[in-house]
Amino acid sequence: MILSGARRTLAICGLLSLAAFAHGEDNSLTRDVAIIGGGAAGTYAAIRLRDQGKSVILIEKEDRLGGHTNTYEDPVTKTHVDYGVVVFHDNQLVKNYFDRLNVSWLVTDPHFTSGSPVYLDDQSAKPVNYTSPDARAALQTYAAHLAQYPKVESGFFLPDPVPEDLLLPFGEFLAKYPDVGNAAFTIFTFGQGLGDFLSQPTLYVFKNFGLEIIQDIGTGFLVTASQNNQEIYQHATKILGHDVWTSSHVASTPHRRKEGIQLEVKTPSGRRTVKAKKLLIAFPQKLDKLKPFDLDELESSLFGKFMNTGYYTSLVKNTGLPGNFSSTSVGANTPYQIPKLPGVYAVSATAIPGVFDVKYGSPTGLSDDFVRGEILSYIKKLQANGFAEKVPGEPEFVAYHSHTPFELTVARDEIAGGFYKKLYALQGHRNTWYTGAAFDTQDSSMLWNFTEEYILPDLLA
Ligand SMILES: Cc1cc2nc3c(=O)[nH]c(=O)nc-3n(C[C@H](O)[C@H](O)[C@H](O)COP(=O)(O)OP(=O)(O)OC[C@H]3O[C@@H](n4cnc5c(N)ncnc54)[C@H](O)[C@@H]3O)c2cc1C
Ligand SMILES: *[C@@H]1O[C@H](CO)[C@@H](O)[C@H](O)[C@H]1NC(C)=O
Ligand SMILES: *[C@@H]1O[C@H](CO)[C@@H](O)[C@H](O)[C@H]1NC(C)=O
Ligand SMILES: *[C@@H]1O[C@H](CO)[C@@H](O)[C@H](O)[C@H]1NC(C)=O
Ligand SMILES: *[C@@H]1O[C@H](CO)[C@@H](O)[C@H](O)[C@H]1NC(C)=O
Repeated sequence: MILSGARRTLAICGLLSLAAFAHGEDNSLTRDVAIIGGGAAGTYAAIRLRDQGKSVILIEKEDRLGGHTNTYEDPVTKTHVDYGVVVFHDNQLVKNYFDRLNVSWLVTDPHFTSGSPVYLDDQSAKPVNYTSPDARAALQTYAAHLAQYPKVESGFFLPDPVPEDLLLPFGEFLAKYPDVGNAAFTIFTFGQGLGDFLSQPTLYVFKNFGLEIIQDIGTGFLVTASQNNQEIYQHATKILGHDVWTSSHVASTPHRRKEGIQLEVKTPSGRRTVKAKKLLIAFPQKLDKLKPFDLDELESSLFGKFMNTGYYTSLVKNTGLPGNFSSTSVGANTPYQIPKLPGVYAVSATAIPGVFDVKYGSPTGLSDDFVRGEILSYIKKLQANGFAEKVPGEPEFVAYHSHTPFELTVARDEIAGGFYKKLYALQGHRNTWYTGAAFDTQDSSMLWNFTEEYILPDLLA
């Protein structure tokens, strides 16, 4: 007994010293690359770097990876509904990534739509006599404009000087090219989250609705076979194992320089020190969120320029709406009948009977209490306008998520003044790299391509 106890003690000491060695004398963790933010871009980077022999740690503030991915599982039927990220591009990179994660995928039928919606006034939720125009010819014209800027499809590699058309507020671009007008509403619908759509520089509209999207509308998008996009991130979490810390965030950055990075991280099991050769920041690069990273003047001056929109998604039940109900907001008397924001974009039936997806957008960030109130009051307008059967009780949230700060943009003068050249010149500055939507676009497939092409080579070097 005593002997085996002593052996066990020895064995435990051995393990402890091994662990101390792996984690450094001071309980620090040493890695080639520390990645902050486990959404689409950060998770992809972690998997790809590990597969190519780099050691990583992925630090995510929420209790799960996935970022803008939101999947709800119905407790009764176990049906899944993606009310965040839904579709991916049908290309080889996406297929390779899903295959690597052992996530089955399929390609949808062309012209992915959610049935034929009723068009309702953005304010009153009353029917508007709106017929969606045939957008096909206009989309072709739009695509011909896009094709003039091939280096804008992936990343912000802008011609110098930046062409005037890319700087025009999109409303002015449409006025200049009336042949594109019939596509305005379609582009708006796909580009949810862009805020004040007609005021955004055309560059951001082009980035959000690019050539690959137009191609996928024609040939079909790629989706997970399970229609459960959280599966992507569950599998990635399993593969990464101890190299993911969820519910964790960087509290401070003692060093960020050529010789290496040191981060103080708050985790559910206490504070940890991370030492890494390189740092990859993969969350929205707004100044307030970057505070713990000890920014220098150059970094602060650039990241301080980002503005953002607000984008919100929810699932609502107990509405009395018919099972096949879907509505799209339109402006009764607005240019291209684009609805006014803040407001509801659309209400759509989901695969779960009685549960409706409601998307809400705003030119700037709003409080969750306000948005929740607005969504419920819109449902009540639908009820009052006779779209719903009487049900006891009030409409209720099954799920709600704010995706704010969403689209990160800078002013037109900043774009013209070379903002993106200066921003991209930060890659590698103080051994820090950046990826995520602000560096390319709000599109998972595009971000995986961007990360693969422009970020990983430096991190693998
Ligand atoms: C409702 C909705 C629907 C969408 N639909 C689609 C779609 O169908 N197809 C598509 O391709 N794209 C879609 N998008 C766009 C989507 O934003 C992008 O595809 C992509 O998810 C952006 O990836 P990202 O890595 O830049 O950011 P995110 O996915 O947001 O990842 C950032 C991560 O960083 C974490 N984080 C933030 N701050 C910190 C911190 N301080 N420390 C640690 N972690 C932090 C966040 O929790 C998050 O997990 C949709 C977005 C929304 C909101
Ligand atoms: C990224 O996209 C570009 C343009 O579509 C393509 O040429 C390239 O092969 C893609 N990269 C990868 C790794 O798939
Ligand atoms: C991949 O997924 C299938 C089911 O989709 C499962 O049977 C198989 O065991 C998985 N393989 C690995 C390596 O996880
Ligand atoms: C709707 O508008 C079209 C023309 O845009 C018109 O022909 C039709 O009569 C209108 N319908 C109603 C009900 O007002
Ligand atoms: C919804 O269903 C009702 C009755 O089942 C039908 O009359 C109506 O046309 C349907 N609406 C749509 C948009 O499919």
